[in-house]
Amino acid sequence: MQINDKTVIKDYYASPERYDAMKYNRSGKSGVLLPAISLGLWHNFGSVDSSHTARKILRTAFDLGITHFDLANNYGPSYGSAEENFGTLFKKDFKNYRDELFIATKAGYDMWPGPYGNWGSRKYLTASLDQSLKRMGLEYVDIFYHHRPDPETPLEETMVALSDIVRQGKALYVGISNYQPQETAAAAKLLKELRVPFILHQARYSIFDRWVEDGLLDTLSDQGVGCIAFSPLAQGMLTDKYLNGIPADSRVAKNFTYLDKNQLQEKLEKIRELANIADQRGQKLSQMAIAWLLRQEQISSVLIGASSPDQLRENVKALDQLKFSDEELKLIDSLSTS
Ligand SMILES: NC(=O)c1ccc[n+]([C@@H]2O[C@H](COP(=O)([O-])OP(=O)(O)OC[C@H]3O[C@@H](n4cnc5c(N)ncnc54)[C@H](OP(=O)(O)O)[C@@H]3O)[C@@H](O)[C@H]2O)c1
Repeated sequence: MQINDKTVIKDYYASPERYDAMKYNRSGKSGVLLPAISLGLWHNFGSVDSSHTARKILRTAFDLGITHFDLANNYGPSYGSAEENFGTLFKKDFKNYRDELFIATKAGYDMWPGPYGNWGSRKYLTASLDQSLKRMGLEYVDIFYHHRPDPETPLEETMVALSDIVRQGKALYVGISNYQPQETAAAAKLLKELRVPFILHQARYSIFDRWVEDGLLDTLSDQGVGCIAFSPLAQGMLTDKYLNGIPADSRVAKNFTYLDKNQLQEKLEKIRELANIADQRGQKLSQMAIAWLLRQEQISSVLIGASSPDQLRENVKALDQLKFSDEELKLIDSLSTS
């Protein structure tokens, strides 16, 4: 942006067409409908990022019918800054749309120093959600997740904490993330006894990471719980982005990310072949990667990240072509398993 750029940021009025093209899927056997594509704020919304771009991404998302925004206490960097920035933008642009939004946050990874700022104790979860609500300026979140299983804290303590959070009106629903199938079944049993609406499991799932097919998806179906798939584009590797090198503004090129050059180099050949399959289907690779997940009934939503509004616009077009031939699926299988 130029120093003498006189463009004025206009007030935001959501597009009247925002619900025309998005598809909404039921989350498990709950009453909640989620957009087939949701937006995560793990990257691109921290104190190191442009708040102008972040604002444009959020506005574009909502105009495209993306009603679900996913946060966590430690998204940034710095920790907490994604929630804080979201809170500022929410107040400016979305406060009149609160009842049209489904907002998530989580706790479970390290957040503050000392023994009470990590894992799954009642002490940590309760304090963390209070802090998150304050940062975002919200009275409640729609869903609060335990972010990862805690091998030390009794599961019952964690689940009772989630239950009490719902009873206190600080979250409407609860979810878990990164739990293995057996842990998920045990959590579901406790939450059922506590009569808490447990509606979502957030799990890493993409053409390059299919661990959920080994029991988790079946467990979730048995329990009537939905699955929201995170990092569906393998952090950008399942897009056209790296086909001709590493762009300077990409996640691989930036600091503070969990994607490095080696991971990319290892996969580049497969990425090229997958891009060819997508091309023959008349899709971009990102669109095919999203459609490949959404073709499955158990996937309530695909949780993408985006560093620009254009990426979002491109990705939602995945919904135009969700069907796959057996031959395409076999080809993708041969490239997704090593
Ligand atoms: N529960 C958990 O433990 C957990 C863990 C990780 C993530 N999550 C959630 O899942 C969300 C999504 O994760 P993710 O960001 O890894 O998802 P992703 O969708 O796999 O990757 C997003 C990145 O891909 C690139 N991209 C997206 N669309 C593109 C397009 N059309 N063309 C080119 N590049 C494109 C962008 O990277 P560039 O920045 O390089 O442009 C974007 O930031 C997170 O925000 C978070 O809410 C949860």
